Amino acid sequence: MTELTNRQIVLRRRPTGLVEPADTELISAPAPEPADGEALVRTTYVGLDAAVRTWLNDQPGYLPPVQLGEVIRAAGIGEVVASRCPAYAVGDVVTTLTGFQEYVLVRDDMFTTPVPGPAVDQLAVMSVYGPTGATAYFGMTGIGRPQPGETVVVSAAAGATGSIAGQIAKIAGARVVGIAGGPQKCRVVMEDFGFDACIDYREGDVAAALKQHCPRGVNVYFDNVGGPILDAVLGRLAPKARVVLCGVISSYLTGEHPGPANYVNLLSKTALMQGFNALDEWGRFDEAFAALRQWEQDGLLVHRETVMEGIESCVDALNGLFTGANIGKMLVKISE
Ligand SMILES: NC(=O)c1ccc[n+]([C@@H]2O[C@H](COP(=O)([O-])OP(=O)(O)OC[C@H]3O[C@@H](n4cnc5c(N)ncnc54)[C@H](OP(=O)(O)O)[C@@H]3O)[C@@H](O)[C@H]2O)c1
Repeated sequence: MTELTNRQIVLRRRPTGLVEPADTELISAPAPEPADGEALVRTTYVGLDAAVRTWLNDQPGYLPPVQLGEVIRAAGIGEVVASRCPAYAVGDVVTTLTGFQEYVLVRDDMFTTPVPGPAVDQLAVMSVYGPTGATAYFGMTGIGRPQPGETVVVSAAAGATGSIAGQIAKIAGARVVGIAGGPQKCRVVMEDFGFDACIDYREGDVAAALKQHCPRGVNVYFDNVGGPILDAVLGRLAPKARVVLCGVISSYLTGEHPGPANYVNLLSKTALMQGFNALDEWGRFDEAFAALRQWEQDGLLVHRETVMEGIESCVDALNGLFTGANIGKMLVKISE
């Protein structure tokens, strides 16, 4: 094989807040040759998850922190271009932890999954038929369990997880109210994703807007953000409400998690608040994808993506999750 160049973004300094130019470096190295049991994958799309930012802190999580000098870890999708691993043939499309780089070596392990089918819609795999769609599915159907006529509130409603979670609640027959930043996003949440209403949290008082849009209280809250929005929704819970703790993007940059004063409503409303990690449901992902695929085929579910171009855009795309630059799944296209 002619020598391939692998451009990679490595961590140079641990960021505080948004990732700054001096925190990372774009370097070039020869793409590695696969050894026995390995395959070389050319990255097509890198997916941005809020978790990527948490891995840059020197704190243990469900995966270890990225070390200084290492390629920034991220989930992505790509095509096998050389293989010495029986599990993968040249031309296979796989999802794996590509990281912020153009080529990655993979093995036959739990991090790398071949995507079946002759014509793979890689954008759809990254936005709905992958961990993001599974997160929305397991959180909403397993913990939220919306019933017909109930009121469901979803934060980061224009984002990858929130947009799918809200549509699942609509399919269950609930009335769905989104919370998103800015009038354009709120329009997309209602017109494209079919929510019944959307609150612009950057404009005005969220608690007052919740009172207006949820007159009988909130039966299910799918929380992607934590912080003051979580507190406002807890203040509006209906009896026996279910609060799905999916993520706390409002505090990943600071690492500080202000406690919600209105948590006492969990007691007075005999409500449930439960966190979850979609990866714990790994063995049931096929069940989630089958349901999501059926809904998409029935015209009940749509997905959107925001795609930035080129390896140089990875850091901007990551920061964009925190500044609200995305509608649907935030991705960077690395190669054709
Ligand atoms: N539990 C799990 O297994 C699991 C798995 C995957 C992801 N998650 C969590 O799910 C959440 C959504 O992740 P995603 O990948 O789908 O991202 P996303 O929703 O596509 O993007 C993040 C969005 O969060 C909003 N946001 C950022 N800072 C905010 C703030 N301070 N207050 C309110 N909204 C803010 C922005 O939208 P606006 O413009 O509307 O502010 C932004 O577009 C994250 O918290 C993530 O950690 C959990």
